[in-house]
Amino acid sequence: MRTLEVDLAKLNIRKLQAEDLPALEWEGRFQHYRNLYLKTYEEYLQGVRLMLVAEYRRRVVGQIFILFGTIESDPRPDRFTAYLYSLRVRPAFRSQGIGERLILEAENHIQQHKLSRVLIAVARDNDGALRLYERLGYERIGTDLGRWSYLDHNGHPQQVNEPSYILEKLLPNRGRKPSHRWW
Ligand SMILES: CC(C)(COP(=O)(O)OP(=O)(O)OC[C@H]1O[C@@H](n2cnc3c(N)ncnc32)[C@H](O)[C@@H]1OP(=O)(O)O)[C@@H](O)C(=O)NCCC(=O)NCCS
Repeated sequence: MRTLEVDLAKLNIRKLQAEDLPALEWEGRFQHYRNLYLKTYEEYLQGVRLMLVAEYRRRVVGQIFILFGTIESDPRPDRFTAYLYSLRVRPAFRSQGIGERLILEAENHIQQHKLSRVLIAVARDNDGALRLYERLGYERIGTDLGRWSYLDHNGHPQQVNEPSYILEKLLPNRGRKPSHRWW
């Protein structure tokens, strides 16, 4: 895979706009997620979620979504939690710091929402993503079978089985002590 060199100073991490939705499908590779993206976008307009994209030279090259709330498989449910998911960077743009920038920008938005605990689920065999998350301070707190389903762009049900680790990061405190830690 050819690497397209990125000048990070010119990378723009911003909120997704409706016109960006087709770009998330990567010319068909992720069209099966179309309904999921539309549903996520509706909840983004309602303020329940946030969709961020990384734009470089007017091209969407990465994405990350935030759920302001927690997930069913959270081993320590906490009302100050946000969940990061759907992190993806186009292959030609990887290993240049875009993934890290997306995560850090998502964490900023989470803090602006006065939330201080972040969860991520990562497939147990995704060594690259795990390394990135652990480097950024995420710690394993549990596992999940990673079973979920969705309707694809043709309306057909699809089942996903992706055994995962649940990772947690506590962001700098904004006026409260995390309820499950004693220090
Ligand atoms: C996981 C993913 C989002 C990471 O995106 P990325 O843009 O490559 O992330 P970064 O560049 O910030 O970090 C990746 C590595 O590149 C390194 N890197 C960052 N800038 C670099 C640079 N200028 N030169 C060399 N290496 C660099 C980082 O140190 C990191 O190293 P590590 O693998 O030892 O941790 C990307 O690989 C991806 O889209 N994968 C497929 C989807 C996926 O697995 N998503 C996660 C689901 S949980």
